[in-house]
Amino acid sequence: MAGIHANNESWHTTSKYQTVLQVCFAGVMNPMADSIKFTLTEDDIPKTWYNIMADLPSPLPPVLHPGTNQPIGPDDLAPLFPIAVIQQEVSQEREIEIPEPVREVYRQWRPSPLYRARRLEQALGTPARIYYKYEGVSPAGSHKPNTAIAQAFYNKQEGVKRITTETGAGQWGSALAIAGAFFGLEIEVFMVRVSFDQKPYRRAFMESFGARCIASPSELTSAGRAILEQRPDSTGSLGIAISEAVEMAAQREDTKYALGSVLNHVLLHQTVIGLEAQRQFELVDDYPDMVIGCTGGGSNFAGVAFPFIGEKLRNGGDMEIIAVEPSACPSLTKGRYAYDFGDTAHLTPLVKMHTLGSTFVPPGFHAGGLRYHGMAPMVSHLTELGQIAPRAYQQIECFAAGLQFARAEGILPAPEANHAVKAAIDEALNCKEQGVSKAILFNLCGHGHFDMQAYSDYLAGKLVDQHYDESELAMALAGLPSVA
Ligand SMILES: Cc1ncc(COP(=O)(O)O)c(C=O)c1O
Repeated sequence: MAGIHANNESWHTTSKYQTVLQVCFAGVMNPMADSIKFTLTEDDIPKTWYNIMADLPSPLPPVLHPGTNQPIGPDDLAPLFPIAVIQQEVSQEREIEIPEPVREVYRQWRPSPLYRARRLEQALGTPARIYYKYEGVSPAGSHKPNTAIAQAFYNKQEGVKRITTETGAGQWGSALAIAGAFFGLEIEVFMVRVSFDQKPYRRAFMESFGARCIASPSELTSAGRAILEQRPDSTGSLGIAISEAVEMAAQREDTKYALGSVLNHVLLHQTVIGLEAQRQFELVDDYPDMVIGCTGGGSNFAGVAFPFIGEKLRNGGDMEIIAVEPSACPSLTKGRYAYDFGDTAHLTPLVKMHTLGSTFVPPGFHAGGLRYHGMAPMVSHLTELGQIAPRAYQQIECFAAGLQFARAEGILPAPEANHAVKAAIDEALNCKEQGVSKAILFNLCGHGHFDMQAYSDYLAGKLVDQHYDESELAMALAGLPSVA
């Protein structure tokens, strides 16, 4: 401003000074106008999770008992999950309180930052405003601790001593290992064979927190042994690892099972992501036209998107919600919307979801967290209701997008998150082509620091796109249970 007064030009008639004033005025009106990072305080961590069940225009199809095809009750789930979690699974309350001990642990990394990807926007030459919520700041490096901490807390509260689980990329196993260490629980993780081999440091990470990590399929369970008998070189799948973890949990009174995605309560716990983002957008004085997330079982996507979908269901609007999955495991875009088992050995109840069939084993591409045969029933239901637009990408184009993002923003995404990055870049380029400025929000659900072998392979030109076997898919779909 001193420069303006020192100058003899008539300041209010020159466009140069008008511009200076406009910029200063914009700064006074909104000091965040050109910020990169939008942060909240620990006191801003949401006190409740958002339950989209309260706002659904039509109810979610019930979970069925595979023996009777009748809706299951809490007693059917009690051997596997704590009561508090079962209640959340069926709750119709819009807001569910986050227990204070869970918020206390959340404080370690929450609220996570919302970034404006200004350097990426510049690199793309797009008029779009690109924002990303960064969940890689958690101790495990992804969104997974949001539910691991909550699930460990409820298990501990109900006297459970040991939790068994599955993990794909290792992010969920790592999150539960940390949660187990915090709450004094034994953790046993069945890790999908292909990821176990691709990511040895994930296993070391889990073991550092006192967890036990076993490659799946294993000789420890009858589900694992049955698979190994048919296919000794099986790469495994999340469906198989779930079977093994469920079987182990059912064997001991003091043991329960925890799932890292798919179920309503897991999606519920992840809504802290979108709830925080909504507050951060108030700081920015902007609002997304589009929300994007990658989908394996659907939890990080639901976490970022459900609070915005809820807002839209209650108040209207034309926000686009995009779910991005791998072309090699395309449950939402190519699967059937039908009742199916959540696991390969058929130990779980039947849920209505987009599925490739519970015996489908996807090829061994690098986004291990997205190799699940089904999709969260809630995400499937909302897709059927036209609230979610799904799309699929191959891995090479996702790694290319991930590196483009990394070179602009300095964060190397997890291979799973690259799917969301790719969609965000594509949408930003669409904006450029059409000359429109949309606000795009995506969830950068994890960093890729344990995925360097995948990046090395990509940089060496060794990565290939993987295609699922059409006949295997047809066979898996033919094996869907018949439910009237
Ligand atoms: C970084 C990351 N993103 C996404 C996923 C997929 O899971 P979900 O769809 O439940 O978010 C995983 C699963 O392991 C993951 O590790």
